Amino acid sequence: MKQRVEKIFALLDPKPDAVVLANAVDPHLDQSFFYLFEVPAGLFEGSVAVAHPDGELDVLSSPLEAETAFEAAKHDPHVKVHVVNRDETEDAVKQLLAPGGTYALNHRELTHGWFVQLEKLLPQVKWTDASDAIRKARATKEPHEIELLRKAAEIGSEVGREIPGLLKTGITELELAAEMEYRMGRHGASGRSFSTIVAFGPHGAEPHYSPRDTPLKPGDSIVCDFGAYYRRYASDITRSFHFGPRDAEMKEVHDTVFAAQEAALAAVRPGVPGKEVHNAALQVIDASRWKGRLNHGVGHSIGLVVHDGWGYGPKVEDPLEVGMAITVEPGIYLPGHGGVRIEDDIVVTPDGYEFLTTAPREYREVPA
Ligand code: GLY
Ligand code: MN
Ligand code: MN
Repeated sequence: MKQRVEKIFALLDPKPDAVVLANAVDPHLDQSFFYLFEVPAGLFEGSVAVAHPDGELDVLSSPLEAETAFEAAKHDPHVKVHVVNRDETEDAVKQLLAPGGTYALNHRELTHGWFVQLEKLLPQVKWTDASDAIRKARATKEPHEIELLRKAAEIGSEVGREIPGLLKTGITELELAAEMEYRMGRHGASGRSFSTIVAFGPHGAEPHYSPRDTPLKPGDSIVCDFGAYYRRYASDITRSFHFGPRDAEMKEVHDTVFAAQEAALAAVRPGVPGKEVHNAALQVIDASRWKGRLNHGVGHSIGLVVHDGWGYGPKVEDPLEVGMAITVEPGIYLPGHGGVRIEDDIVVTPDGYEFLTTAPREYREVPA
């Protein structure tokens, strides 16, 4: 992908002789490898990408994905695939990198094992860090990437619309999570983009809770935070519900989180520092009787991974840019009682934003 290689080099100063990305073993795969070498599937364990300043890309592919690799390279004249076995990789790397060169690595994702190996292999090389340039290049999406994110978001939204029909007394958090993941697959996902969160009652007060065998009972609030992968692109959506008889407090909590999300969304436009989006949501929550009950940043970049290198909180000055795909996810958490979070994926446009997720966000009571 010449354009993406050039985008990264444009952000690097001084320019290295090449940018080198190396995958270890799943899950220690650098998704930036797939940013530069766009293949819809495959693990590519042990594979290496060498991106050159003129936009050309050499890929040392594992033999296990050779067909996929050659197929991708067939459509891109700027990519050269070399299929190598594990024990041939070091020699192939040596042939691509000159002994006295300066090469940039992705410090955020390269394993320490790979770094030690590279240092030993090429002792005279100067290694620098391209991770910030890579992160920034990945943060603003191309129209093609936005369409993949939209598809991933639509799969999540489909399941979000189906959750009320799955709620019944006795279903456990794990069972509901399994059903949601199955349905994402049926709607076209290649997998879940992170560990599904389903939290009943008091468990909803923990934002990154992991589901257990807790059964649903009338009166519980429900937080479902989940996402799909579609052709490597992730979605991340949270919908909150109430099961059984009306809970006046949880309805008010939900309406407050909804208003906080609306305030955050209203602040989204190019050039606005991330903190302003966060603080717009925070102000709504802190003006309510649940002051202090938002305990996390209101959103993050989303792309090839669910937490795509950047997030915004009360002090983040980085401005939003056209093409950024981000989540907007305020919540109120009441220990011992429950929680409400509403999370949507949006893309920043020249005059504001556009929703990628589409499931209803309003308070919804499901009769027990
Ligand atoms: N699913 C984790 C998050 O919303 O950031
Ligand atoms: Mn989420
Ligand atoms: Mn999120």
